[in-house]
Amino acid sequence: MFKLKKVSISLLVFLMAISILAGCNSNTNGKTEKASGGNKGGKIVVGFSQIGAESGWRTAETKSIKETLGNSPDFELKFSDAQQKQENQIKAIRNFIAQKVDVIALAPVVETGWESILKKARDAKIPVILLDRGIKVKDESLYTSFIGSDFILEGENAAKELINLIGADKGANIVELQGTVGASAANDRKTGFANGLKDNPNFKIIKSQSGDFTRVKGKEVMEAFLKSDGKNIDVVYAHNDDMAIGAIQAIEEYGLKPGEDIKVVSIDGVKDAFEAAVQGKTNIIVECNPLLGPQLAQAVKDLKAGKEIPRWIKTEESVFVGKEAAEEALPSRKY
Ligand code: AHR
Repeated sequence: MFKLKKVSISLLVFLMAISILAGCNSNTNGKTEKASGGNKGGKIVVGFSQIGAESGWRTAETKSIKETLGNSPDFELKFSDAQQKQENQIKAIRNFIAQKVDVIALAPVVETGWESILKKARDAKIPVILLDRGIKVKDESLYTSFIGSDFILEGENAAKELINLIGADKGANIVELQGTVGASAANDRKTGFANGLKDNPNFKIIKSQSGDFTRVKGKEVMEAFLKSDGKNIDVVYAHNDDMAIGAIQAIEEYGLKPGEDIKVVSIDGVKDAFEAAVQGKTNIIVECNPLLGPQLAQAVKDLKAGKEIPRWIKTEESVFVGKEAAEEALPSRKY
């Protein structure tokens, strides 16, 4: 009798755990978002696995997607924040598959390690759209489309504008703040920048280290660069604006003038970077557009309507050099 009671209590606990897992979408902020199964009330259900909130750029991307899909009568958005961890993204995708969402949108934190979970999505016939960062997979059919920028081109443009600014005949000692290790945005921006410098050997990267796309780490790494090589640094190239802003603080605390003593080049185009440029503290901003919500919404609609969507949906972007360009652009910046 006692044994039977014990077994039925364990069974009850087990069943409750299963129903909680199946019914809720894990949100790594510690909260859970209620799940409601695929294609409810004619809405297209999209599960979006976001990397985290490491930068102003990423916050703007999340806002754009929540505003476009979350506020639309055509979509139901299931959002999951992975707090920078691939394992959390894999867990979120597994949950989206269990909930039978119509489409999975994935902003992958790193390039590798996706095969197994994407095969599960494909087996479940759920198309996967990559957002803003790319992945490396042998079987390209594991995702349907990539929406985002050309990171190699961004790195090349950063190098090109830097050479114009300083003068090809002069040259510079450059320190590089890389993004998250293993991220396509870091790998490609590094490659593109190196490509852009290759015909100008006077431009040398003397130090290069990851600042993980955050302000805090960008500052920390720049402090270390300054400590070991302060007098020798002419330029800091940061793979995103947040790290550049951290570096600007480090340069000021070290007693030098960012934008003058040490030139600053970065990628993204968030308002804070434009404000720094207006104050003359940064020199070159290569834009990378995070407002991908409308493109994602259109791609998902097209896909569900049976239309073929482009393999790479690119975004339009500019480069801003100097104070005047920043002053002119700042009032209309949307992120
Ligand atoms: O993948 C895009 C990059 O990721 C942005 O440049 C950066 O700010 C973000 O964290």
